[in-house]
Amino acid sequence: MTPPAQPKLAAAFAHASDALAIESLHLSSLHLAQALPRPAVVPSEDPSHLSPLLKWAGGKRWLLPVLQPLWNASHRPKKSSLVAAKGFQRRLVEPFCGGLAVALGLNPKQALLNDANPHLIHFYQQVQQGFRLTVPLKNEEAAYYAARERFNQLIKEGIAQDTPEAAEWFYYLNRTGYNGLCRFNKKGLYNVPFGKYRTIGYKTEFSDYQPTLAPWQFASGDFSELAIDANDFVYADPPYDVPFTQYAADGFTWADQVRLAEWLSDLPCPVVASNQATDRILDLYRSLGFEVQTLAAPRRIACTGDRTPAQEMLAVKGL
Ligand SMILES: C[S@@+](CC[C@H](N)C(=O)[O-])C[C@H]1O[C@@H](n2cnc3c(N)ncnc32)[C@H](O)[C@@H]1O
Repeated sequence: MTPPAQPKLAAAFAHASDALAIESLHLSSLHLAQALPRPAVVPSEDPSHLSPLLKWAGGKRWLLPVLQPLWNASHRPKKSSLVAAKGFQRRLVEPFCGGLAVALGLNPKQALLNDANPHLIHFYQQVQQGFRLTVPLKNEEAAYYAARERFNQLIKEGIAQDTPEAAEWFYYLNRTGYNGLCRFNKKGLYNVPFGKYRTIGYKTEFSDYQPTLAPWQFASGDFSELAIDANDFVYADPPYDVPFTQYAADGFTWADQVRLAEWLSDLPCPVVASNQATDRILDLYRSLGFEVQTLAAPRRIACTGDRTPAQEMLAVKGL
């Protein structure tokens, strides 16, 4: 039996209910949630003004109608805390920032955005510094494979995180490659095939993104290396749990899922986590005291190209 929805999550779902198919929502909680006061601070005026620069598997732009009210609620003044200070805004921390759909959507003044993929983070750092693309941007198979070879050469030479050229190729390969995948072989070389898109809208400079990204801090490493404080708001979107396996294809194992949930549950600030709503993920987050809810996710891209719709879990703590 589905347990009743709890107030914080129900509040978020109530605001988002026009946009999303909400599962297992308890009516009395929903009415209670609608009676809650509006947040005192609404940090982002226009949650959709910048769309992600990259195609990224697992992007959570679709979840913004649910995340925005939770982010807003985290700024509601609390007695005897810094949060009550006028104009206070939390730092958004995303341990798995991926394509930046959530950071660009919530548009915080301060953010700590981390991802284990160093090429991704290097690309964002180059955008912060105002780099321009000078490499040829051709939606052609031969050009794509030549670019992939050049990018892999920079990886082999150990300079893929040092030169803007690598970030240029990374952007080109991401836009031109298959399905927003970012996959590397055992030697760490990029091995995504050509995407066969009819048309691609390449950007050659990112000055429209630079002012937004400039104050944000980017890091590349394991999520557990991040230093979090009480004024942060953490949104964690790890690779999806794959039911019935210990070892996920992308290297994020069941042990990593457990390690993450335990790390999140110990943080001193509001935390929101999303994941595929497998039974064991729901059990894990509930057992650690999170408010847990499920909702229908849009069709998603899996490594296999499978686009089966899935159930998404949202877990909230400290709000
Ligand atoms: C589902 S995606 C995040 C998508 C992102 N929320 C968005 O909207 O685009 C998960 C990300 O986790 C990263 N990742 C995998 N293992 C990690 C780890 N141990 N620590 C930090 N990031 C990791 C992957 O590189 C990937 O970008």
